[in-house]
Amino acid sequence: MRLDVITIFPEYLDPLRHALLGRAIERGILDVAVHDLRSWTHDVHKAVDDTPYGGGPGMVMKPTVWGPALDDVAALTGPAADGLRLDSAHPHVAADDVPEPDAPGGRDDRPVLVVPTPAGRPFTQATAERWATEERLVFACGRYEGIDQRVFEDAGERYRVEEVSLGDYVLIGGEVAVLVMAEAVVRLIPGVLGNRRSHEEDSFQDGLLEGPSYTKPRVWRDREVPAVLLSGDHAKVDRWRRDQALLRTAAVRPELVEALEHDGRLDGHDRSVLEGTAE
Ligand code: ADE
Repeated sequence: MRLDVITIFPEYLDPLRHALLGRAIERGILDVAVHDLRSWTHDVHKAVDDTPYGGGPGMVMKPTVWGPALDDVAALTGPAADGLRLDSAHPHVAADDVPEPDAPGGRDDRPVLVVPTPAGRPFTQATAERWATEERLVFACGRYEGIDQRVFEDAGERYRVEEVSLGDYVLIGGEVAVLVMAEAVVRLIPGVLGNRRSHEEDSFQDGLLEGPSYTKPRVWRDREVPAVLLSGDHAKVDRWRRDQALLRTAAVRPELVEALEHDGRLDGHDRSVLEGTAE
């Protein structure tokens, strides 16, 4: 997968080079390029924003800068041909451990243009799963009061545009949202996480939040690990984990349990756990 990020704060994206993502870059699974939006300005001040039509507070980012930037990033031409390519922060694998890149497939090669904005559709685990199968994601980081809307109408010719929000709160810009989304997506790419089961059992994978986890020692400050986890009975452990997930989800996110009920994804035992009548 290739990620391109367009921003006025390229150094903000530096954390992409670390840990899991850095390892994916080294292994050739992930390619990341960060582009400074100011490379597409034409004036001495390198202005990227202007006052809003219709008045009001704040500034709006200019279509005359974003339009050419998105054209070049789509085609990897102009300043985008040599955007800042991120290398991994620390070597994680030996050079002879790097796998061969996959042969190119016959997929839609229009990249997804991700626009982080509090006015977008919610970004969820399902969004991350869908994007994890893409070959290219381009992220457009807006600041101030946003980007002139015509930029996205126009970009629809070269991109599949998706405006997405992390949640019902307002960040100063899209950069932190990009870090969050990139991590959520990249960890789902096959080969990035060591253990496949570690994301098969994630929160949200089955519509529930993950229940509690325990490790050694068995007794810590007089608190014991639940006995079922020491029983060696895998069916019982799985049932217990689902029960805990159901109870935690019902306590903190009841609407998720309602959605499972609505979709017919709760069985009789699930219901008895939720009603407190399970033996
Ligand atoms: N930019 C500003 N606020 C945001 C949010 N809540 N989600 C995504 N991008 C944003």
